[in-house]
Amino acid sequence: MENLINLVNKLQRACTALGDFGEGSSLPTLWDALPTIAVVGGQSSGKSSVLESVVGKDFLPRGSGIVTRRPLVLQLHRIDEGREYAEFAHQPRKRFTDFAAVRKEISDETDRETGRSKQISSVPIYLSIYSPNVVNLTLVDLPGLTKVAVEGQSENIVQDIENMVRAYIEKPNCIILAVSPANQDLATSDAIKIAREVDPQGERTFGVLTKIDLMDKGTDAVDMLEGKSYKLKFPWIGVVNRSQADINKSVDMIAARRREREYFANTPEYRHLASKMGSEHLGKVLSKHLETVIKSRIPGLQSLINKTIIELETELSRLGKPIATDAGGKLYMIMEICRAFDQTFKEHLDGIRPGGDKV
Ligand code: GDP
Ligand code: NA
Ligand code: MG
Repeated sequence: MENLINLVNKLQRACTALGDFGEGSSLPTLWDALPTIAVVGGQSSGKSSVLESVVGKDFLPRGSGIVTRRPLVLQLHRIDEGREYAEFAHQPRKRFTDFAAVRKEISDETDRETGRSKQISSVPIYLSIYSPNVVNLTLVDLPGLTKVAVEGQSENIVQDIENMVRAYIEKPNCIILAVSPANQDLATSDAIKIAREVDPQGERTFGVLTKIDLMDKGTDAVDMLEGKSYKLKFPWIGVVNRSQADINKSVDMIAARRREREYFANTPEYRHLASKMGSEHLGKVLSKHLETVIKSRIPGLQSLINKTIIELETELSRLGKPIATDAGGKLYMIMEICRAFDQTFKEHLDGIRPGGDKV
Protein backbone atom coordinates (compact mmCIF):
# COMPACT_ATOMS: atom_id res chain seq x y z
CA MET A 1 0.00 0.00 0.00
CA GLU A 2 1.45 3.34 -0.96
CA ASN A 3 2.38 5.58 1.91
CA LEU A 4 -0.30 8.17 2.58
CA ILE A 5 2.13 11.03 3.09
CA ASN A 6 3.81 10.36 -0.26
CA LEU A 7 0.45 10.25 -1.95
CA VAL A 8 -0.54 13.60 -0.46
CA ASN A 9 2.84 14.91 -1.66
CA LYS A 10 2.11 13.88 -5.23
CA LEU A 11 -1.29 15.42 -5.17
CA GLN A 12 0.07 18.70 -3.83
CA ARG A 13 2.70 18.84 -6.54
CA ALA A 14 0.16 18.02 -9.21
CA CYS A 15 -2.26 20.71 -8.02
CA THR A 16 0.54 23.24 -8.14
CA ALA A 17 1.79 22.14 -11.55
CA LEU A 18 -1.68 22.64 -12.87
CA GLY A 19 -1.84 26.16 -11.54
CA ASP A 20 -5.01 28.09 -12.00
CA PHE A 21 -7.82 25.74 -12.83
CA GLY A 22 -10.51 28.29 -13.32
CA GLU A 23 -13.47 29.45 -11.37
CA GLY A 24 -15.56 27.03 -9.34
CA SER A 25 -12.92 24.30 -9.55
CA SER A 26 -12.53 22.02 -6.55
CA LEU A 27 -8.75 21.84 -7.04
CA PRO A 28 -7.89 24.85 -4.85
CA THR A 29 -10.24 23.43 -2.21
CA LEU A 30 -8.52 20.10 -2.54
CA TRP A 31 -5.11 21.72 -2.10
CA ASP A 32 -6.33 23.53 1.02
CA ALA A 33 -7.73 20.29 2.39
CA LEU A 34 -4.34 18.55 2.22
CA PRO A 35 -2.52 18.77 5.56
CA THR A 36 0.90 20.45 5.54
CA ILE A 37 3.44 21.53 8.12
CA ALA A 38 4.67 25.13 7.87
CA VAL A 39 7.79 26.36 9.65
CA VAL A 40 7.39 29.87 11.06
CA GLY A 41 9.50 32.16 13.19
CA GLY A 42 11.53 35.33 13.28
CA GLN A 43 14.56 35.86 11.07
CA SER A 44 17.56 33.92 12.41
CA SER A 45 15.46 32.08 15.00
CA GLY A 46 16.91 28.85 13.58
CA LYS A 47 14.21 27.69 11.13
CA SER A 48 16.58 26.55 8.41
CA SER A 49 18.82 24.87 10.97
CA VAL A 50 15.84 22.93 12.34
CA LEU A 51 14.89 21.77 8.85
CA GLU A 52 18.43 20.67 8.09
CA SER A 53 18.66 18.79 11.37
CA VAL A 54 15.39 16.98 10.72
CA VAL A 55 16.66 15.98 7.28
CA GLY A 56 20.15 15.27 8.57
CA LYS A 57 21.74 17.07 5.63
CA ASP A 58 23.25 20.43 4.75
CA PHE A 59 21.32 21.73 1.81
CA LEU A 60 19.74 25.08 2.61
CA PRO A 61 21.11 28.47 1.69
CA ARG A 62 22.05 30.28 4.85
CA GLY A 63 23.54 33.43 6.21
CA SER A 64 22.46 36.37 8.24
CA GLY A 65 19.62 38.53 7.02
CA ILE A 66 16.87 37.43 4.69
CA VAL A 67 17.90 34.24 2.92
CA THR A 68 14.65 32.36 2.46
CA ARG A 69 12.70 34.56 0.07
CA ARG A 70 10.28 32.05 -1.42
CA PRO A 71 8.35 29.25 0.26
CA LEU A 72 10.27 25.98 -0.02
CA VAL A 73 8.04 22.93 -0.03
CA LEU A 74 10.30 20.18 1.18
CA GLN A 75 9.04 16.65 0.64
CA LEU A 76 10.96 13.89 2.37
CA HIS A 77 10.60 10.38 1.03
CA ARG A 78 12.03 7.46 2.90
CA ILE A 79 13.60 4.85 0.63
CA ASP A 80 14.76 1.42 1.78
CA GLU A 81 18.18 1.48 0.25
CA GLY A 82 20.35 3.21 -2.25
CA ARG A 83 22.04 6.52 -2.51
CA GLU A 84 20.21 9.61 -1.35
CA TYR A 85 19.29 12.19 -3.92
CA ALA A 86 17.23 15.31 -4.39
CA GLU A 87 14.95 16.46 -7.17
CA PHE A 88 13.24 19.78 -7.93
CA ALA A 89 9.77 19.99 -9.45
CA HIS A 90 11.09 22.65 -11.84
CA GLN A 91 13.79 20.23 -13.11
CA PRO A 92 11.98 16.93 -12.97
CA ARG A 93 14.55 14.73 -14.68
CA LYS A 94 17.65 15.94 -12.91
CA ARG A 95 18.88 13.98 -9.89
CA PHE A 96 21.06 15.86 -7.44
CA THR A 97 23.41 13.76 -5.34
CA ASP A 98 25.60 16.70 -4.37
CA PHE A 99 23.73 18.67 -1.71
CA ALA A 100 25.92 21.74 -2.15
CA ALA A 101 24.48 21.88 -5.67
CA VAL A 102 20.98 21.64 -4.17
CA ARG A 103 21.72 24.67 -2.05
CA LYS A 104 22.96 26.58 -5.08
CA GLU A 105 19.90 25.62 -7.11
CA ILE A 106 17.56 26.86 -4.34
CA SER A 107 19.20 30.25 -4.37
CA ASP A 108 19.42 30.42 -8.17
CA GLU A 109 15.77 29.47 -8.48
CA THR A 110 14.87 32.08 -5.85
CA ASP A 111 16.71 34.72 -7.89
CA ARG A 112 14.98 33.60 -11.09
CA GLU A 113 11.66 34.61 -9.59
CA THR A 114 12.66 37.66 -7.57
CA GLY A 115 15.74 38.93 -9.37
CA ARG A 116 18.93 39.28 -7.37
CA SER A 117 17.13 41.48 -4.91
CA LYS A 118 16.04 41.11 -1.34
CA GLN A 119 12.44 40.92 -2.47
CA ILE A 120 10.19 37.99 -1.72
CA SER A 121 7.82 35.89 -3.81
CA SER A 122 5.00 33.61 -2.75
CA VAL A 123 5.62 31.17 -5.61
CA PRO A 124 6.89 28.00 -3.93
CA ILE A 125 9.95 25.97 -4.85
CA TYR A 126 9.32 22.21 -4.66
CA LEU A 127 12.17 20.02 -3.48
CA SER A 128 12.00 16.28 -2.86
CA ILE A 129 14.66 14.39 -0.95
CA TYR A 130 14.86 10.61 -1.21
CA SER A 131 16.91 8.99 1.50
CA PRO A 132 17.09 5.98 3.81
CA ASN A 133 17.76 8.44 6.65
CA VAL A 134 14.59 10.53 6.53
CA VAL A 135 11.05 10.03 7.75
CA ASN A 136 8.14 10.63 5.36
CA LEU A 137 7.27 14.23 5.89
CA THR A 138 6.35 17.44 4.07
CA LEU A 139 7.49 20.75 5.47
CA VAL A 140 7.16 24.26 4.09
CA ASP A 141 10.00 26.64 4.92
CA LEU A 142 8.81 30.25 4.86
CA PRO A 143 10.61 33.58 4.91
CA GLY A 144 11.39 34.76 8.43
CA LEU A 145 9.22 37.39 10.09
CA THR A 146 10.97 40.74 10.46
CA LYS A 147 10.37 44.09 12.07
CA VAL A 148 11.94 46.49 9.59
CA ALA A 149 12.70 46.69 5.88
CA VAL A 150 16.39 46.80 5.01
CA GLU A 151 18.27 48.46 2.15
CA GLY A 152 16.97 47.14 -1.17
CA GLN A 153 13.57 46.10 0.18
CA SER A 154 10.28 47.86 -0.29
CA GLU A 155 8.64 49.42 2.73
CA ASN A 156 5.82 46.90 2.80
CA ILE A 157 8.07 43.83 3.00
CA VAL A 158 7.41 43.35 6.71
CA GLN A 159 3.68 43.17 6.05
CA ASP A 160 4.15 41.12 2.86
CA ILE A 161 6.09 38.43 4.72
CA GLU A 162 3.54 38.35 7.48
CA ASN A 163 0.71 38.01 4.96
CA MET A 164 2.48 35.19 3.16
CA VAL A 165 3.07 33.31 6.41
CA ARG A 166 -0.50 33.90 7.52
CA ALA A 167 -1.89 32.64 4.20
CA TYR A 168 -0.30 29.26 4.95
CA ILE A 169 -0.95 28.94 8.65
CA GLU A 170 -4.51 30.24 8.79
CA LYS A 171 -5.74 27.17 6.94
CA PRO A 172 -7.24 24.80 9.48
CA ASN A 173 -5.30 21.91 7.89
CA CYS A 174 -1.94 23.55 8.41
CA ILE A 175 0.21 22.22 11.23
CA ILE A 176 2.34 25.06 12.56
CA LEU A 177 5.94 24.48 13.54
CA ALA A 178 6.61 27.57 15.62
CA VAL A 179 10.35 28.13 16.05
CA SER A 180 11.46 30.35 18.94
CA PRO A 181 14.99 30.95 20.23
CA ALA A 182 15.38 30.02 23.92
CA ASN A 183 17.70 32.95 24.52
CA GLN A 184 14.83 35.38 24.02
CA ASP A 185 11.68 35.83 26.04
CA LEU A 186 8.80 33.74 24.66
CA ALA A 187 6.58 36.78 25.14
CA THR A 188 8.52 38.45 22.31
CA SER A 189 8.50 35.43 19.99
CA ASP A 190 7.30 36.24 16.45
CA ALA A 191 6.40 32.59 15.96
CA ILE A 192 4.16 32.42 19.01
CA LYS A 193 2.60 35.77 18.25
CA ILE A 194 1.41 34.77 14.77
CA ALA A 195 0.58 31.17 15.73
CA ARG A 196 -1.60 32.39 18.57
CA GLU A 197 -3.53 34.61 16.17
CA VAL A 198 -4.62 31.71 13.97
CA ASP A 199 -4.59 28.91 16.55
CA PRO A 200 -5.47 30.49 19.90
CA GLN A 201 -5.96 27.17 21.68
CA GLY A 202 -2.62 25.81 20.47
CA GLU A 203 -4.31 22.75 18.97
CA ARG A 204 -2.26 22.53 15.80
CA THR A 205 0.94 24.28 16.86
CA PHE A 206 4.17 22.45 17.70
CA GLY A 207 6.53 24.65 19.69
CA VAL A 208 10.23 24.23 18.92
CA LEU A 209 12.81 25.88 21.13
CA THR A 210 16.19 26.50 19.50
CA LYS A 211 19.48 27.90 20.86
CA ILE A 212 19.06 26.30 24.29
CA ASP A 213 22.86 26.14 24.42
CA LEU A 214 23.04 29.93 24.10
CA MET A 215 21.00 30.81 27.17
CA ASP A 216 22.52 33.01 29.86
CA LYS A 217 24.40 31.15 32.56
CA GLY A 218 22.13 30.41 35.50
CA THR A 219 18.97 30.29 33.39
CA ASP A 220 17.38 27.25 31.77
CA ALA A 221 14.52 26.36 29.44
CA VAL A 222 12.75 23.86 31.70
CA ASP A 223 9.63 25.98 32.27
CA MET A 224 9.32 26.66 28.56
CA LEU A 225 9.90 23.01 27.64
CA GLU A 226 7.35 21.84 30.19
CA GLY A 227 4.76 24.19 28.70
CA LYS A 228 4.57 26.38 31.79
CA SER A 229 5.46 29.57 29.91
CA TYR A 230 3.12 28.96 26.99
CA LYS A 231 0.76 26.03 26.90
CA LEU A 232 0.22 24.04 23.73
CA LYS A 233 -1.68 20.80 23.20
CA PHE A 234 1.52 19.03 22.11
CA PRO A 235 4.70 18.99 24.17
CA TRP A 236 7.39 21.54 23.35
CA ILE A 237 10.53 20.13 21.76
CA GLY A 238 13.95 21.61 22.43
CA VAL A 239 16.78 21.37 19.92
CA VAL A 240 20.43 22.31 19.78
CA ASN A 241 21.47 23.15 16.25
CA ARG A 242 24.90 23.92 14.96
CA SER A 243 26.23 27.34 15.83
CA GLN A 244 27.64 29.63 13.17
CA ALA A 245 31.13 28.63 14.36
CA ASP A 246 30.24 24.94 13.86
CA ILE A 247 29.05 25.68 10.35
CA ASN A 248 32.20 27.62 9.57
CA LYS A 249 34.23 24.65 10.84
CA SER A 250 32.02 22.30 8.74
CA VAL A 251 30.87 20.21 11.70
CA ASP A 252 28.79 17.56 9.95
CA MET A 253 25.18 16.67 10.69
CA ILE A 254 25.91 13.25 12.13
CA ALA A 255 28.31 14.74 14.65
CA ALA A 256 25.87 17.58 15.36
CA ARG A 257 23.02 15.17 16.08
CA ARG A 258 25.22 13.10 18.36
CA ARG A 259 26.29 16.20 20.22
CA GLU A 260 22.69 17.32 20.53
CA ARG A 261 21.71 13.96 22.08
CA GLU A 262 24.61 14.18 24.52
CA TYR A 263 23.71 17.73 25.42
CA PHE A 264 20.23 16.78 26.62
CA ALA A 265 21.34 13.55 28.27
CA ASN A 266 24.23 15.15 30.14
CA THR A 267 22.74 18.47 31.25
CA PRO A 268 21.24 17.84 34.70
CA GLU A 269 18.30 20.24 34.13
CA TYR A 270 17.20 18.46 30.95
CA ARG A 271 18.06 14.85 31.71
CA HIS A 272 14.47 13.96 32.68
CA LEU A 273 13.25 15.31 29.32
CA ALA A 274 16.07 13.93 27.16
CA SER A 275 14.05 11.24 25.34
CA LYS A 276 11.56 13.86 24.17
CA MET A 277 14.11 16.37 22.90
CA GLY A 278 16.22 16.84 19.79
CA SER A 279 15.85 17.00 16.02
CA GLU A 280 15.55 13.28 15.44
CA HIS A 281 12.70 13.05 17.91
CA LEU A 282 11.08 16.11 16.31
CA GLY A 283 11.16 14.46 12.87
CA LYS A 284 9.53 11.30 14.17
CA VAL A 285 6.83 13.15 16.11
CA LEU A 286 5.92 15.26 13.08
CA SER A 287 5.82 12.34 10.68
CA LYS A 288 3.56 10.37 12.98
CA HIS A 289 1.32 13.35 13.58
CA LEU A 290 1.04 14.15 9.88
CA GLU A 291 -0.02 10.61 9.14
CA THR A 292 -2.63 10.67 11.91
CA VAL A 293 -4.05 13.93 10.61
CA ILE A 294 -4.23 12.62 7.04
CA LYS A 295 -5.99 9.46 8.23
CA SER A 296 -8.52 11.44 10.18
CA ARG A 297 -9.25 13.49 7.06
CA ILE A 298 -9.76 10.52 4.73
CA PRO A 299 -13.56 10.66 4.52
CA GLY A 300 -13.61 14.39 3.70
CA LEU A 301 -10.70 14.11 1.28
CA GLN A 302 -12.26 11.16 -0.42
CA SER A 303 -15.46 12.95 -1.31
CA LEU A 304 -13.49 15.96 -2.49
CA ILE A 305 -11.33 13.73 -4.64
CA ASN A 306 -14.30 12.00 -6.19
CA LYS A 307 -15.70 15.39 -7.04
CA THR A 308 -12.37 16.37 -8.59
CA ILE A 309 -12.24 13.18 -10.66
CA ILE A 310 -15.67 13.87 -12.13
CA GLU A 311 -14.68 17.44 -12.85
CA LEU A 312 -11.45 16.37 -14.53
CA GLU A 313 -13.23 13.75 -16.63
CA THR A 314 -15.63 16.40 -17.88
CA GLU A 315 -12.80 18.78 -18.66
CA LEU A 316 -10.84 16.07 -20.44
CA SER A 317 -13.74 15.02 -22.61
CA ARG A 318 -14.31 18.66 -23.46
CA LEU A 319 -10.67 18.95 -24.58
CA GLY A 320 -11.16 15.81 -26.65
CA LYS A 321 -8.79 12.91 -27.20
CA PRO A 322 -5.99 12.30 -27.95
CA ILE A 323 -4.69 14.70 -25.35
CA ALA A 324 -2.03 16.57 -27.19
CA THR A 325 -2.11 19.77 -25.22
CA ASP A 326 0.02 20.41 -22.22
CA ALA A 327 -3.04 21.22 -20.14
CA GLY A 328 -4.65 17.93 -21.12
CA GLY A 329 -1.56 15.99 -20.10
CA LYS A 330 -1.49 17.65 -16.71
CA LEU A 331 -5.20 17.07 -16.16
CA TYR A 332 -4.71 13.46 -17.05
CA MET A 333 -1.80 13.15 -14.62
CA ILE A 334 -3.73 14.65 -11.76
CA MET A 335 -6.71 12.45 -12.47
CA GLU A 336 -4.51 9.37 -12.30
CA ILE A 337 -3.18 10.54 -8.95
CA CYS A 338 -6.70 11.15 -7.69
CA ARG A 339 -7.65 7.62 -8.70
CA ALA A 340 -4.62 6.21 -6.89
CA PHE A 341 -5.67 8.23 -3.90
CA ASP A 342 -9.18 6.91 -3.99
CA GLN A 343 -7.84 3.36 -4.18
CA THR A 344 -5.44 3.85 -1.27
CA PHE A 345 -8.18 5.39 0.83
CA LYS A 346 -10.37 2.38 0.20
CA GLU A 347 -7.55 0.08 1.25
CA HIS A 348 -6.97 2.12 4.40
CA LEU A 349 -10.65 2.10 5.24
CA ASP A 350 -10.80 -1.67 4.67
CA GLY A 351 -7.82 -2.00 6.96
CA ILE A 352 -9.38 -0.08 9.79
CA ARG A 353 -12.94 -1.28 9.40
CA PRO A 354 -13.62 -4.31 11.57
CA GLY A 355 -14.27 -7.31 9.37
CA GLY A 356 -12.34 -5.77 6.46
CA ASP A 357 -10.15 -8.17 4.52
CA LYS A 358 -6.88 -6.39 5.02
CA VAL A 359 -5.45 -5.50 8.39
P1 GDP B 1 16.63 31.20 10.17
O1 GDP B 1 16.90 32.58 9.66
O2 GDP B 1 15.47 31.19 11.12
O3 GDP B 1 16.48 30.20 9.09
O4 GDP B 1 17.90 30.80 11.08
P2 GDP B 1 19.19 29.93 10.72
O5 GDP B 1 18.87 28.48 10.82
O6 GDP B 1 19.84 30.41 9.50
O7 GDP B 1 20.08 30.25 12.01
C1 GDP B 1 20.57 31.54 12.28
C2 GDP B 1 21.90 31.44 13.02
O8 GDP B 1 21.70 30.88 14.33
C3 GDP B 1 22.92 30.54 12.34
O9 GDP B 1 24.18 31.13 12.47
C4 GDP B 1 22.88 29.24 13.13
O10 GDP B 1 24.11 28.58 13.16
C5 GDP B 1 22.51 29.74 14.52
N1 GDP B 1 21.74 28.75 15.29
C6 GDP B 1 20.51 28.23 14.96
N2 GDP B 1 20.09 27.37 15.91
C7 GDP B 1 21.06 27.32 16.85
C8 GDP B 1 21.22 26.59 18.09
O11 GDP B 1 20.35 25.79 18.49
N3 GDP B 1 22.38 26.80 18.79
C9 GDP B 1 23.35 27.67 18.36
N4 GDP B 1 24.43 27.81 19.11
N5 GDP B 1 23.22 28.37 17.21
C10 GDP B 1 22.11 28.20 16.46
NA1 NA C 1 18.68 33.86 8.31
MG1 MG D 1 16.22 30.52 6.91
